[in-house]
Amino acid sequence: MYRNHTCGELTLADINKEVILAGWVQKVRKLGGGMTFVDLRDRYGITQLAFSKDVNADLYEQANKLGREFVLQITGIVQERSSKNMNIPTGEIEIIVNKLVILNASEIPPFTIEEETDGGDDLRMKYRYLDLRRQTVRKNLELRHKIAFETRRYLDERHFLEVETPILVGSTPEGARDFVVPSRMNPGEFYALPQSPQLLKQLLMVSGFDRYFQIVKCFRDEDLRADRQPEFTQIDCEMSFVNQEDILNMFEGLTRHLFKVIKGIDLPEFPRMTYDHAMKYYGSDKPDTRFGMEFAELKDLTGGKDFVVFDSAEYVGAICAKGASSYTRKQLDGLTDFVKRPQIGAKGLVYVRYETDGTLKSSVDKFYNEEDLKKWVERCQAEPGDLILIICGDTEKSQKQLGELRLEVAEQLGLRDKSKFNCLWIIDFPLLEKDEELGRYFAKHHPFTSPKEEDIALLDSDPGAVRANAYDMVINGVEVGGGSVRIFNSQLQNKMFHVLGFTEEKAQAQFGFLMNAFKYGAPPHAGIAYGLDRLVSIFAGLDSIRDCIAFPKNNSGRDVMLDAPATLEQEQLDELNLKVEIKK
Ligand code: AMO
Repeated sequence: MYRNHTCGELTLADINKEVILAGWVQKVRKLGGGMTFVDLRDRYGITQLAFSKDVNADLYEQANKLGREFVLQITGIVQERSSKNMNIPTGEIEIIVNKLVILNASEIPPFTIEEETDGGDDLRMKYRYLDLRRQTVRKNLELRHKIAFETRRYLDERHFLEVETPILVGSTPEGARDFVVPSRMNPGEFYALPQSPQLLKQLLMVSGFDRYFQIVKCFRDEDLRADRQPEFTQIDCEMSFVNQEDILNMFEGLTRHLFKVIKGIDLPEFPRMTYDHAMKYYGSDKPDTRFGMEFAELKDLTGGKDFVVFDSAEYVGAICAKGASSYTRKQLDGLTDFVKRPQIGAKGLVYVRYETDGTLKSSVDKFYNEEDLKKWVERCQAEPGDLILIICGDTEKSQKQLGELRLEVAEQLGLRDKSKFNCLWIIDFPLLEKDEELGRYFAKHHPFTSPKEEDIALLDSDPGAVRANAYDMVINGVEVGGGSVRIFNSQLQNKMFHVLGFTEEKAQAQFGFLMNAFKYGAPPHAGIAYGLDRLVSIFAGLDSIRDCIAFPKNNSGRDVMLDAPATLEQEQLDELNLKVEIKK
């Protein structure tokens, strides 16, 4: 037996027991005067080992020679500590060691394996297996396991079947670029890795599976951000004989179940907000509703005062930052620089300070008097002490810019509280999105999403106005999941392909198998997929999904530990019938 206890469980109740522990040396503390303490760590916690020269000089010498991350097996007696550490469960005891076996030595690790590590991001990623010894990172993976486990329990209890779908598939058009894999047996041909199992889960509905789910890896070759990885995990679900309401209820139920059992939080019913409402009042289809600060529109209050910037703008919108009238010139300049960054693209920022004494001062005092400003302030429901920030221009762009500003200001004012969870559904998304440059429509969700019955007639006359039976689940400003009611009628699906600019041949070549399947009795069906990584990072309050992925990629899509991607040997290329020529 290597051990009969873990390093996280011994307490005063175990006093005088002889125990065997195994683990890694976190720290050796030589107190002098013949006493040395060693912190022994395993997955479960840390236990203090005590070595006294007086008790056993030999062992004491050995302990003094231990290095960080040595792997030990020790036998000893549990004793009450004289100086207790009430911050850890084992902090009231220590082990008086009577046998020490070094199971393995360790080189000095490249960074300290402690909560406050001295290792930078790159170094920790290169030695991720050491980083994973740190408690915070391990805790995130434990949480991830629990969320996946509870998801399986909830869905299993409701008769969902977990079915695996292939990883080597053909290309599916879901917006992002595909990762491709060359086929040795079919020279010149490539598989694609799935961006999601969308079509396969729909085929399972045709097969009569009724309720499907899969916790599944998905692959998208897109630019990376804090909430995006090239390979990520979905909780992918599909149901037959359901409408949108059934899906929203089933998966609101799953989210509530997870919050209840994992965090002990009883969530209220999820509000539902239309896409149009979200854009108008938050400038985002994933609004963070932990705080207010909804937009107020001021265009009708700003005209006729010779301020060309507002007069020529299609939209003038404002947010009210509560209690921020004391913002300094420098802070306001900072906000102006923020909205002018190319990623945001606003031309400028106008502000009105509603001073605590009730006076009004603005950056456009030349054009607007106190009476004008009073009307703005009223529209914004501002109070003395507040700050009004205004952006103007093209409606859609300005709303998005104001949305970014809203989040930045909320961050600065500490309103994005990680211990608070606001969940909601965004519904009634537009079915199509126009690419102005290419002058054609794309599916906003994917080409299999059904239009709202009452909007079908608009598909020919005004495609941009057609709303979809599509929904997203948003928590704290993050899109954690999305799905739709699917088209299950071949004619309507053909019509969709037509609107999306597919020729009949192209549609047949890409989706022939789905269209064929639909000829054999496709049931009405609908589904949703959660981003598991995003869900876990919200539960854990993380800033990046990387922190809940065991072996993530960096921002250039590299695994710096495995050093992937990498070039292939000529032999491998020959076998794959590939000739690599890098275009400069
Ligand atoms: P969608 O493309 O909206 O829908 O993806 C579903 C959810 O997956 C997560 N997600 C990601 N997480 C991390 N890194 C990424 N690169 C990434 N991309 C997406 C998001 C998102 O909400 N087949 C449809 C679902 C359906 O209609 O049932 C789909 O994939 O949390």
